[in-house]
Order: sequence, then structure tokens, then C-alpha cells
Amino acid sequence: MESIVQSNTLLEIEGLRVWFPIVRGVFSRVRGHIKAVDGVSLFIRRGETVGLVGESGCGKTTLGRAIMGLEQAREGRIVFDGKDLSHRHSTAEARLLARRRQMIFQDPYSSLNPRMTVLDILTEGMEEHGLMEGSKEESALRLLSDVGLDRAMLHRYPFEFSGGQRQRISIARALSVRPEFIVCDEPISALDVSIQAQIINLMMELRQKYSLSYLFISHDLSVVRHVADRVAVMYLGRIVEEGPSDEVIENPLHPYTQALISAVPVPGEEGRKRIVLKGDLPSPSNPPKGCPFHPRCPYAMKVCKEVDPPPAQRGAHRVNCHLHPPGPAS
Ligand SMILES: Nc1ncnc2c1ncn2[C@@H]1O[C@H](COP(=O)(O)OP(=O)(O)OP(=O)(O)O)[C@@H](O)[C@H]1O
Ligand SMILES: [Mg+2]
Repeated sequence: MESIVQSNTLLEIEGLRVWFPIVRGVFSRVRGHIKAVDGVSLFIRRGETVGLVGESGCGKTTLGRAIMGLEQAREGRIVFDGKDLSHRHSTAEARLLARRRQMIFQDPYSSLNPRMTVLDILTEGMEEHGLMEGSKEESALRLLSDVGLDRAMLHRYPFEFSGGQRQRISIARALSVRPEFIVCDEPISALDVSIQAQIINLMMELRQKYSLSYLFISHDLSVVRHVADRVAVMYLGRIVEEGPSDEVIENPLHPYTQALISAVPVPGEEGRKRIVLKGDLPSPSNPPKGCPFHPRCPYAMKVCKEVDPPPAQRGAHRVNCHLHPPGPAS
């Protein structure tokens, strides 16, 4: 496989598989696997935001957690700034690699320790990594001002905040250890619509200020289009299409991407035809043979039932679909 490593590539994922064993019976025998991530290749450049979209259960969170080292890869590799994360690193190097990658979760309440004050939440990581500048209070106040929160909040507990404020605290906590890359897993899905735009704007400002790269996981294609330079569409553990956000959203090549986009309401185009997919997402423990999308695809051909489509490059898009065979577009 041709290497896609470029000097400005921060993260490179190649052929990643993360499977969860299905264990049953008194002897805890492994009866199969949930193939949550099943052969994903994706890269993210420095300073870039890549949006990750796809139906519930397609493997987005598992991919994000694998990048963070929270799930173990069964196969494939994740290379961060030229360092293969599956290799053994010295303790100091491993700590540094962990610090440089952070994650923000959908539910900021369950991800913040309820027994810690904001001051302790924000300074825990800084203390661990020796990043404190000035006093504990001063360091925490700088972070609070970065995320638009008032100094009076320093000695409060997570339950005393609104959802939007809690997400600001989670963002500040992620920033506290000066990461370069942040996995944002549905960071606004649990928030009121009125608050969502504020949090998105904050994240975009911080990206600029601290030259961050994001993997931005979301169900909402209109948000992804707004924030992401590139978008990757995930289906049943695979990336089926990937490319610059505007191009993928305006000219989707994969029938699954077309269906996802047709479900997004567009003002003034209420009469637009919505592509309704047949059936539900198949079980990731027993993905269909051939193209995993074929049982639901309106264009399925004989070959789709038998052969897994190889990636094809179409301009800046990469797509896995037999309608788009590798080689020059016909
Ligand atoms: N720890 C686990 N053990 C067993 N199965 C898991 C585990 N975590 C996730 N799965 C399964 O892996 C598949 C992918 O889950 P994942 O949470 O990554 O999907 P997702 O795309 O993030 O979904 P959502 O949009 O609902 O958040 C699902 O079938 C899920 O049930
Ligand atoms: Mg998820």
C-alpha cells in the first residue's frame, strides 16, 4: 500500500480493526466478535478537522477510543506524529503521547468527577505533567477565561453548572495538558440547540488559537459541514467515503452518503426527495459478505454481494463502491 505519510500528517490509521468478543455460557467461550471497527484507514493533517459521521452503532466512538488508546487494536496501526502507538514506548514517551491526545465526550456530566471542584479538575493534569505556570489558581483561571467562564466558578462542583457550562469545563480540562489533537465525540448532541452554536464557535476559536486538530464525531451533517475540512462517512465499521466536506456533501458518490445527506432538511427545499434506506444497520457481529452496504443499497448489483469494493480515488474523494471502480473515472 502506498504510504500516505506526509510531513504535515499528524495521525495516520491503517487497516485498523477493533473487535469485541461475544462471550457466552458458563465456560465463557468466545462465540463470535462484534466487529465495531473493521478495516479503517484514515489520516488527519496538523491543524485539520475531520468530521466522522454515520448511523448509531457504526463504530465512531470505538474508533475515537482506539485512537486514545482506550480500546485495543486487533489489527492495523495508529501512527501519531510518526510514532506507532502499538509499539512499546518508554514510560516518559508514553505519557507524552497520552498527553498530546485528548477526548471530549457527549455527556460532560458523567465525564467530570462530581467530587472535584473546577479548580482541581482543571489542574489535575497540569500537575501530573508538570505544566503549571504560576499558582494553581492562576493556571486554572487562564483556562477558565479561554472557555469563557467566570472566575467565581473556580470553587464549584460540576453539578452546579448547566450542560453548556459543563461542556466548557470539559473542554478546558482537555486543553489543560496542551494537546495537539482532540477527539470530540458528539460534543454538542446533549446540549440545548441554543447552546450548541456557542460551543461550536468556542471549539473553532480554540482550534485557531492553539493550532489543534480535531476528529469531530457527529450525527449532524450540517454541523460537520460547518466545522470540518474533510468528512469521513462510516458504515458498519468501515469508512465508505472520505473527502473535503463541501465536495462530499454537495456531490456524494457512495449511495450510503447520498442517503445520509438526503435526510438533512434544507431550508427552501422541503419538497426534496428523501432516500429511505431499506432495513436497519446489520449486526456488526455478522456483517454482510461483499459490500457491507449491499442489502440496503438501491443500486446493488451481483458483484456487490460477492466482492468487497476496493477504494477508488475520484478527485479528492475516496470511495468504496462498485459503482466507482478503481482507476480513472469512466
Ligand atoms: N465495550 C464494548 N463491548 C461490546 N460491544 C461494544 C462495546 N463498545 C461498543 N460496542 C459495540 O460496537 C458497535 C459500535 O459501537 P460504537 O459505540 O462505536 O458506535 P457509534 O457509532 O459511536 O454509535 P452512536 O452513534 O450510537 O454513539 C456497536 O454494535 C456497539 O454495541
Ligand atoms: Mg458513539
